[in-house]
Amino acid sequence: MCGIIGIVGTKPVAERLIESLKRLEYRGYDSAGIAAQVDGKLVRRRAPGKLRELEAVVAADPLIAETGIGHTRWATHGAPTERNAHPHIAGRVAVVHNGIIENFAELKAELIAKGRVFSSDTDTEVVAHLIDEALNDGLDPQAAFKATLDKLRGAYALAVLVGGEREVIMGARNGPPLAVGYGDGEMFIGSDGLALGPFTNRVAYLEDGDYVIIDHNSAKIFDEAGLPAERPIKTLAAASAVMEKGNYRHFMEKEIHDQPEGCQRTIAAYVDTLSDRTAVPGGIDFAKLERIQIVGCGTAYIAGLIGKYLIEQLADLPVDVEIASEFRYREPALNSATLAIAMSQSGETADTLAALRYCQAKGMRSAGVLNTVESTIGREVDVVWPIHCGPEIGVASTKAFTAQVAVLTAVAVAAAHARGKIDGDEEKRLVRVLLEAPRLMAESIKLEEAVKAVAVEVAKARDVLYLGRGPMYPLALEGALKLKEISYIHAEGYAAGELKHGPIALVDEQTPIVILAPFDSYFEKSASNMSEVMARGGQVVFITDPDGERHAPAGARVVVTAPRCDPLIAPLVMSAPIQLLAYYVAVQKGADVDQPRNLAKSVTVE
Ligand code: M6R
Repeated sequence: MCGIIGIVGTKPVAERLIESLKRLEYRGYDSAGIAAQVDGKLVRRRAPGKLRELEAVVAADPLIAETGIGHTRWATHGAPTERNAHPHIAGRVAVVHNGIIENFAELKAELIAKGRVFSSDTDTEVVAHLIDEALNDGLDPQAAFKATLDKLRGAYALAVLVGGEREVIMGARNGPPLAVGYGDGEMFIGSDGLALGPFTNRVAYLEDGDYVIIDHNSAKIFDEAGLPAERPIKTLAAASAVMEKGNYRHFMEKEIHDQPEGCQRTIAAYVDTLSDRTAVPGGIDFAKLERIQIVGCGTAYIAGLIGKYLIEQLADLPVDVEIASEFRYREPALNSATLAIAMSQSGETADTLAALRYCQAKGMRSAGVLNTVESTIGREVDVVWPIHCGPEIGVASTKAFTAQVAVLTAVAVAAAHARGKIDGDEEKRLVRVLLEAPRLMAESIKLEEAVKAVAVEVAKARDVLYLGRGPMYPLALEGALKLKEISYIHAEGYAAGELKHGPIALVDEQTPIVILAPFDSYFEKSASNMSEVMARGGQVVFITDPDGERHAPAGARVVVTAPRCDPLIAPLVMSAPIQLLAYYVAVQKGADVDQPRNLAKSVTVE
């Protein structure tokens, strides 16, 4: 999704805007631009494509100023061309925007009727024209901005420069997040704390309906009613964290390798290593719960599905998991003895946030399994369950996924004990199993070379099927999602038991079938599915463990042998092979691994 930065500064701004935009690249974008006032005139530089294209434009035609706004655009209305790239300028006003102005067509028609001429296909340009119209009507910049906000319907985070107001930037939030950064004689606004990281770690978050005016020394925040508002200033630990790939080629590769250490941090926050008991923060009384409702999108939803298997099996507590975009409009029947769990790496996913609010309106308590705890979901849930894996930059989620699964695994054990389904000794045993996960995940990552060899073959395929049973079924979904996202190969994940109910028709010599089957209680059935596939000429990539390898029917094209582990942590241990497979297929195909086409890291609009 689009990224926003605004700086009222004391140093050359163009380089700083681009430095900040680089920290927003992870969100996904297809064009970029910056604007500032030079000699009293608004000036902008824009380019389709990556930030290096914008850097080249700025190098050829420098923009000398100390205050300015910048934007990475993820196209919604209009192709990713220079003319549609932000900032959009109308008269004295330059605007950058993240979100969708839903009533832009009618506003545009009214503006055109007044003689306004548009130079882009975007919804955003109406905002610049509306503010400029209001200025022409004699309103001061703040009043013109507020009058414009009152006309907008939809989701937006905005940053606005007004010609003649050299040391001021205005911002507003309705939906997508906007943070205000407090510097030393300088002030900033940006899409998140990471964007502000190079300049300050003192950050306040606007609430929905807020707007803000920043100058060199202050931020004046107003709420939806236009009344002055205070928003707490927080000191962010991670804001200045350096986002480096180290020796890795891609962030995704680094993040796959980060997982054992990341999960160690996660698990350490959910167990007491002195007593080997669970220690889930937040004081949820699992014994009193009748049900859990998990909501999320994409990979976060899939992590929730794995949680369902574990929690229901261990704690005998019913768990529903639903894609947030369906849940929010379906009018599901809920009761207040249900705990809502919002799963989200970013904490900003619009559908997940809406689903959470739906649950809260039904009187349910809520928890958020989040990476970005200083996010909208983080601020709105009753209990935050942080995943502690550090900033995830690759658009394809990897370390956040395993950290989310680790949190739900600890929750499953804690709930089982609280509900009397396991005794203290069993809780201790399971905690010790969980504590072994990081070491076994590291072992699993060592399969990299073996997986790389498989990837060369899989990269030639047009379609790939992933099959699994039990918790390996959601992992099959995740394997297929990862492959689709970054290699653009069509892939589907299925419950292996569904094979005969349809997908077996797809089996031929050209379609690799990835079967995820550790030697667990489902193994024999998965092995039969493998035989059925092979009998029809299917090329099986069998991901298993040493016992599974010994008992597998002969004939799998490739066997990838992950370390032996307790079923509790098999989803964690078996994740690396499927992530590495997607990664190396994408590399083999020369795809843009960290910023796959059309995808955004943080989906802040529906
Ligand atoms: O930030 P969130 O966890 O709420 O994001 C949810 C999905 O958009 C996300 O998991 C998406 O599916 C990833 N690109 C998966 O790799």
